[in-house]
Amino acid sequence: MYNLLKGKKGLIFGALNDKSLAWKVAERAYEEGAEFVLTNTPVSMRFGEIHELAKKCNTIVVPADATSVKDLENLIDKTMEHFGGKIDFILHSVAMSLNVRKGRTYDNLDYNFLGKTLDISAISFHKLLQVAKKKDAINEWGSVVALSYVAAQKTLYRYNDMADAKAMLESIARSFGYIYGREKKIRVNTISQSPTMTTAGSGVKGIDGLMDFTERMSPLGNANADEFANFCITLFSDLTKKITMQNLFHDGGFSSMGMSLRAMTMYNQALDNPIEPESYDE
Ligand SMILES: NC(=O)c1ccc[n+]([C@@H]2O[C@H](COP(=O)([O-])OP(=O)(O)OC[C@H]3O[C@@H](n4cnc5c(N)ncnc54)[C@H](O)[C@@H]3O)[C@@H](O)[C@H]2O)c1
Repeated sequence: MYNLLKGKKGLIFGALNDKSLAWKVAERAYEEGAEFVLTNTPVSMRFGEIHELAKKCNTIVVPADATSVKDLENLIDKTMEHFGGKIDFILHSVAMSLNVRKGRTYDNLDYNFLGKTLDISAISFHKLLQVAKKKDAINEWGSVVALSYVAAQKTLYRYNDMADAKAMLESIARSFGYIYGREKKIRVNTISQSPTMTTAGSGVKGIDGLMDFTERMSPLGNANADEFANFCITLFSDLTKKITMQNLFHDGGFSSMGMSLRAMTMYNQALDNPIEPESYDE
C-alpha cells in the first residue's frame, strides 16, 4: 500500500465477478485510497456479485449499457452527484463479440454481430470519452484507461472480429487522447494485457493452449490479473502524468518476441509427433 490514489475519485466499468480484470483494479484502487463508482450492464448485475464488491469498497453501483449515450450521460451525472464534483480516473474494461460467442469464423462473419462487437468493444469508449468531455467530468491531469489485446497488431488464431475492435479501440485512444490532452490535460491510454482466465477470456476457445504458448514465449511469463491491477493503478496515479495516447503492453515481453527457447523446445518435441489440424472452422 502506497496511498498512490489518495484523494482520487473514479469510475470503473466491467467488474462482473472476482475473476474480472476490473474487479482486481477496484480492489487495488480501494487499497490505494481511491473512491470510485462501479458500473456494469443491468443484465450482468443480475448475478449480483458486483454488489458484494461495492459493499467491500464502500461505494455504489450505477447500471449502464456502455453502448447507450443516454445511459452514459446518466452515469456521469450520477457519478458527479455522488462525489459532488469531477472525477480523476476511468477504467473502460468492456468487450463482447457475438461472432465469437456464436462460433462464426472470421471468413463467415454476421455483420449485424460485427456492428455490435465494434459498438460494445470500441465505439463505447468514444461515447464514454465524448460524454465525459461534454460534461467536463474529469479533472486536469486525470487518466482514462481502456483494455486491449495484442491481436490489434498481430493475427492470433480464433481472436476473430475482436481483433478489429481492439485496433479501433487503440486508435480512439490516440485520436481522443490528442484532443483531451490539448484541451483539458487529460491522459488517454490502452493497456494491452496478456491472456487472462476471466469470463471474457474463456470465451476465446482454446485459451488454455494460448496461455501456455504466451507463457513460454514471454521472458517474464504472462501477466496475471493482480499484476494488471498494479500497473493500472500507476497509470491512474500522478506518477505517470506525461503518458498519453499510448498502447502499453503488459505482457511479460510477449509482443516483442519472435521465438523463445522454451517455445522452440515444445515445437521440436512436436516435430517428432506431428499433428495436422483437422479443420479450420471451429
Ligand atoms: N481476459 C483476457 O485474456 C484479456 C486480455 C486482454 C484484454 N482483455 C480485455 O479486458 C476487458 C475486460 O475483460 P475481462 O477479461 O476482465 O472479462 P469480463 O468478462 O470479466 O469483463 C467483460 C465486461 O464487459 C462487460 N460488458 C459487456 N457488454 C457491455 C456493455 N454493453 N456495457 C457495459 N459493459 C459491458 C461485461 O458485463 C463484463 O463485466 C475486455 O475489454 C477484454 O477484451 C481481456
